[in-house]
Amino acid sequence: MPVTVSFVGQKGGVGKSTLARAFAAVAARGKLKAKLVDLDLNQQTSVRWATTRAARGSTFPVDAEAFSTIEDALAHSQSVDLVIVDTPGHASPETLEIARKSHVVVLPTGASTDDLYPTVLLLYELEQMGIPKDRLAVALCRLLELREEHAARKYVNTAGYETLHGSIPERAGYRSAHNQGQSLTETTDQALNRRARTLMESLLEKVLVQLKASKPCEKQTGNGSIA
Ligand SMILES: Nc1ncnc2c1ncn2[C@@H]1O[C@H](COP(=O)(O)OP(=O)(O)OP(=O)(O)O)[C@@H](O)[C@H]1O
Ligand SMILES: [Mg+2]
Repeated sequence: MPVTVSFVGQKGGVGKSTLARAFAAVAARGKLKAKLVDLDLNQQTSVRWATTRAARGSTFPVDAEAFSTIEDALAHSQSVDLVIVDTPGHASPETLEIARKSHVVVLPTGASTDDLYPTVLLLYELEQMGIPKDRLAVALCRLLELREEHAARKYVNTAGYETLHGSIPERAGYRSAHNQGQSLTETTDQALNRRARTLMESLLEKVLVQLKASKPCEKQTGNGSIA
């Protein structure tokens, strides 16, 4: 059974597709067998990005495919190690199903209260629906100033939820990377790449912790330890 990491949110344009693509690119560079699942059938941002990436001859192509439901996506992804799920703009009943089937659920958010409030509300709803809190993490995105990051992190942490280390600033360099089928860690600016890598590493660490703890993914060896 593959490890599933999903990117969900209550608002559009906060960075779900951006982080999903970045994580898929990290997985491709790490030679992991991964599939980027695009559940946003209207936009298919991630699928189009992967097509551009392939057309530009990337050494690390990303396998992206659109599906209408998480069940369908997972049924077609049993042969991969990692499923990365990019979801549509607004949370829906399907969001809960996606969260239930994910080892880690990432909620990207901007730093304004307009973004943070619905993010914390969604975290609370997911928790109330039985999603363990330690599977949930907020990713601070599209920030303009360091103090904005501090305040946003405090807001989320005070509400009792985890934030991934690092943050993604709002930069034209990230946008032009996307335009060329590249990701947050693959821009032409090494400082931007480093910044994005910090957040990606934090996510990777969380995924590994959940993978070890999570029942559905345990492969028991003869002595009972996790393979
Ligand atoms: N840190 C950033 N700096 C500059 N541009 C960014 C940044 N993050 C995202 N963008 C751009 O903002 C737009 C929205 O980002 P993205 O598609 O990741 O959001 P989303 O949450 O997936 O939106 P939707 O809800 O519509 O699917 C895209 O054009 C993306 O390239
Ligand atoms: Mg999107």
